[in-house]
Amino acid sequence: MSDIQLEVLELGNPKLRQTARPVEDLAHSDMQSLIDDLIGTMEQSNGVGIAAPQVGVDLQVVIVASRPTLRYPHAPQMDPIAMINPQITPIGAEVVKDWEGCLSVPGIRGLVPRSRVISVEYQDRDGNNQQRTFQDFVARIVQHECDHLQGYVFIDRVETTRELITENEYHKLIIP
Ligand code: NI
Repeated sequence: MSDIQLEVLELGNPKLRQTARPVEDLAHSDMQSLIDDLIGTMEQSNGVGIAAPQVGVDLQVVIVASRPTLRYPHAPQMDPIAMINPQITPIGAEVVKDWEGCLSVPGIRGLVPRSRVISVEYQDRDGNNQQRTFQDFVARIVQHECDHLQGYVFIDRVETTRELITENEYHKLIIP
């Protein structure tokens, strides 16, 4: 954990639209502090995930950190997982739509279709190869964050712009 809060780039910044490069030297101290700073920035922003391109670093690093929220009260509480060079494989054909937001797209929520169950291969921060399966909310976070590595944000994934709403209207939906 770090007290550093990095500036989070917002929609319109061209760095959010780049394709991130694979990490080659994970043991480098800069990589370890990047991971700590990403976790710190995510936690201070009250996010459940963040990707390196959101802080202007074009490397394949994402942080995933599910916790219960108003909309997902049964979401698992988990310590932040750093995924380096992640590769997602959908498991099954089931696609579900649900609301997403993003630190880089403040004030907006969108209804985004995602695979319900995925497998993800990645290296952890110690350089060990991992393969894990996630479903539902956590699978959604992983897919959202990995999209950032390809230069996509969630508003690219909505089926119609009518499924984009403001944060205020979103809160009316979940707290009627
Ligand atoms: Ni995002």
